[in-house]
Amino acid sequence: MNERDWDRVAGSWDEHIMSSLHENVNGSIAALIAATAASHRSILDYGCGVGGYLPLLSACFDQVVGVDYSARCVEQAQAQTRELPNVRVHTVKQFARPGSGGPFDAVLMANVLLHPRPPVRARILDLALARLRPGGVLLLLLPSIESVHLSEAVRRAHTRQRRSAYSRPAGSGAFDPGVIGINGQATKHYSAEEIPLLLQARRLSVISLARAEYSWRSESFDRLDHRIAARPWDWLVSATRR
Ligand SMILES: C[S@@+](CC[C@H](N)C(=O)[O-])C[C@H]1O[C@@H](n2cnc3c(N)ncnc32)[C@H](O)[C@@H]1O
Repeated sequence: MNERDWDRVAGSWDEHIMSSLHENVNGSIAALIAATAASHRSILDYGCGVGGYLPLLSACFDQVVGVDYSARCVEQAQAQTRELPNVRVHTVKQFARPGSGGPFDAVLMANVLLHPRPPVRARILDLALARLRPGGVLLLLLPSIESVHLSEAVRRAHTRQRRSAYSRPAGSGAFDPGVIGINGQATKHYSAEEIPLLLQARRLSVISLARAEYSWRSESFDRLDHRIAARPWDWLVSATRR
């Protein structure tokens, strides 16, 4: 998806985008944010969308900046944080101007590194990391490829749904086993093994790699939570700059 696609989604966000923070049934995301805030005062929420994380970040950190390249998302994030004096929200263009903030003690990217093309993902990550102070912490939420495998197995074994939300992505880009169509949208998914490699290449060391779990309802599978112990999940990562 590009900037204009996200502008279009902004108007009906809740219909299209699951709130990872609010649907996280094992509470790992809020717990990691709170633990990070115990020793870090400022945070950049890069790819903040309509600002779902900003109220929690505002309560935990002294200084919070949200950034998104979708102007419509930024307008909504600004509207919902108007009463929060320690939060500012910028478009990527505004954020590129001198004096827009940083370096930050922490950078959060929650389901932002999704683009199917590696150079595009690398550029977004490097732009955000340029605002992380040395020794600062990067928090990432990344779609899990292992979770897709589990969901497909569960769909076949425990539901009557014949059609999957997942598909082979359209187009003939370079082979990447993690790129999977979600409702037709080519989306990068990550394996637990590849995440440290991605970060090591940028002199970042993984501090923690955990699951942010969701209800099976997030996969449109009803009445499975009490029958299956495992849940679908995103990878939740914290890493620090060496
Ligand atoms: C799945 S949404 C996640 C939004 C938010 N982090 C959350 O979890 O609620 C992905 C967001 O990343 C933003 N995004 C994607 N590419 C970006 C880029 N190159 N620069 C800034 N924002 C970007 C999109 O506009 C969108 O708001």
